[in-house]
Amino acid sequence: MREAARPDFDASVFRQTLAQFATGVTVITTRAPNGEMLGITASSFNSVSLDPPLILWSLAGTASSMPVFRDNAHYVVNVLAASQVELCRHFATVKTDRFAGIAHRSGERGLPILDGALAWFECHNRSRYDEGDHTIFVGEVERCGTHPDAASIAPLIFQRGGFHATCVIE
Ligand SMILES: Cc1cc2nc3c(=O)[nH]c(=O)nc-3n(C[C@H](O)[C@H](O)[C@H](O)COP(=O)(O)O)c2cc1C
Repeated sequence: MREAARPDFDASVFRQTLAQFATGVTVITTRAPNGEMLGITASSFNSVSLDPPLILWSLAGTASSMPVFRDNAHYVVNVLAASQVELCRHFATVKTDRFAGIAHRSGERGLPILDGALAWFECHNRSRYDEGDHTIFVGEVERCGTHPDAASIAPLIFQRGGFHATCVIE
């Protein structure tokens, strides 16, 4: 059989099953052609390759920021600390003037790196795949870095629709 069987579950079961998987949380930032800074919350970030250094993330086709991310070949992936849950909520909801009052500095390409981020990756987009209702972006990392106190800062964790901080079990 060369094709997948039709799903024997509905969308709510699929969501609930996916929600068991814990992820970190990122804010992906870029600039529109008019220079306006944009950021969106994304938990779909993952590593792809060490050599060359590649990462991926995916964006819903319905996202209002999609045209900007499709046009601008550069973005920054900011990995959030547990203390940055309000930034996570902000960049998941605010649609206009997204950087009003948001502390940041500019990376090499003038894109925002959020103050207090646990880690950041400055990327050049290498390829894009439209799959289902999302587009997967594969980025080549041009520069990256970590917070100077990263070893003692808890990451923000998202699971079952809630936010968590890690506890070390070993
Ligand atoms: C914890 C969390 C993780 C999210 N991860 C993603 C993601 O990986 N991809 C995505 O398209 N939207 C994700 N979202 C939703 C977007 O942040 C939200 O829809 C955002 O506003 C993008 O849409 P916009 O471009 O219309 O602003 C996430 C939201 C939250 C709270």
